[in-house]
Amino acid sequence: MKAKIPIAEPWLGEEELNNAVQAIRSGWISSQGEFILEFEKKFARYCGVSHGIATSNGTVALHLALKALGIREGDEVLVPALTFIATANTVTYCNAKPVFVDSHPTYWCIDPDRIEKGITKRTKAIVPVHLYGHPCEMDAIMHIAKNHNLYVIEDAAEAHGASYRDQRVGSFGHINCFSFYGNKIISTGEGGMCLTDNEELATRMRILRDHGMNPNRRYWYDVVGFNYRMTNLQAAVGAAQVDKLDMLIGKRRQLASWYQEAFKDLVERGLVTLPPEMPWAKSVYWMYSILVEDRFGTSRDELINSLKERGIETRPLFYPLHLMPPYQRRNSRAFSVAEEVGRKGINLPSGPRVTKEQVIQITNSIRSIQAR
Ligand SMILES: Cc1ncc(COP(=O)(O)O)c(C=O)c1O
Repeated sequence: MKAKIPIAEPWLGEEELNNAVQAIRSGWISSQGEFILEFEKKFARYCGVSHGIATSNGTVALHLALKALGIREGDEVLVPALTFIATANTVTYCNAKPVFVDSHPTYWCIDPDRIEKGITKRTKAIVPVHLYGHPCEMDAIMHIAKNHNLYVIEDAAEAHGASYRDQRVGSFGHINCFSFYGNKIISTGEGGMCLTDNEELATRMRILRDHGMNPNRRYWYDVVGFNYRMTNLQAAVGAAQVDKLDMLIGKRRQLASWYQEAFKDLVERGLVTLPPEMPWAKSVYWMYSILVEDRFGTSRDELINSLKERGIETRPLFYPLHLMPPYQRRNSRAFSVAEEVGRKGINLPSGPRVTKEQVIQITNSIRSIQAR
């Protein structure tokens, strides 16, 4: 059954359709064709970065970035405890070890004050994740990385167009990765991209994306690479989507202000906590997420089920990675902020078609479930 108010949906129109038709008419439906370069150039330019390398999804974009930077067995990579699992899994794919860092108590992204504690002789990189569209504190992270000679790979899968001190995310790290999955602010169905200002890294990623083929000698392979290419059909959709990004971010921010207004009394009564926007941040509110405080009286999971009965689709916030079987370690350290946010958090409908009336319906439903 289709949810009456879905949590997310893509925004596709005639422009995407026309580009896709053009790609089909041209016959270039695989990973060669004019739209791939166009999409790469347009999106990299939007983020203020020189090179874009489009990939088949955001997970492989992260893997490609780690491989291009030489991350391998025995290395450690710092990742937030609270993120989508792909951030850590891609480190594991390299036979390296993801080392978790707790969240900042106010804005939930990786806490820069806790990063240095996790650094050892084996640490090679930090992967800050701009969680749910809120940027990480990039000055502090870049400063630590420089002091310890570490690479930074921004995981900007959820934060297209967000900025930190007026600079777009995806432009700070050595390589930065995006996802264009169907629930993202802009989408190519499945898709991803790596951005970098370093030409050598860009070339290395293009080679690794194409099985490791020598660009000057067809079917000669100098390294073991992957097939991580994006298709021209996906890029055709993506090229049209970039033009809509500012408009779609505007919708996300408008929606956030409606939620903020409608939740006022529940916040004042200490029943829910809203997502903050730090003074140095422009959030794109990819998923509008609230914390259901203990005094709300109904558990987060019960609230999700009751909202579902009312046709309102929501999701729990990510579970912290150190609690799940692949990353659960005996005597593992506690990450109390990630655990608390992960336990209380809920993502509300955040798609571009959610109306002010629906926001009132959603918040009234939450109010009536609370008062039961
Ligand atoms: C933080 C984060 N990293 C990586 C990914 C992986 O992207 P994809 O789903 O395109 O593989 C996602 C995905 O949704 C994500 O939220």
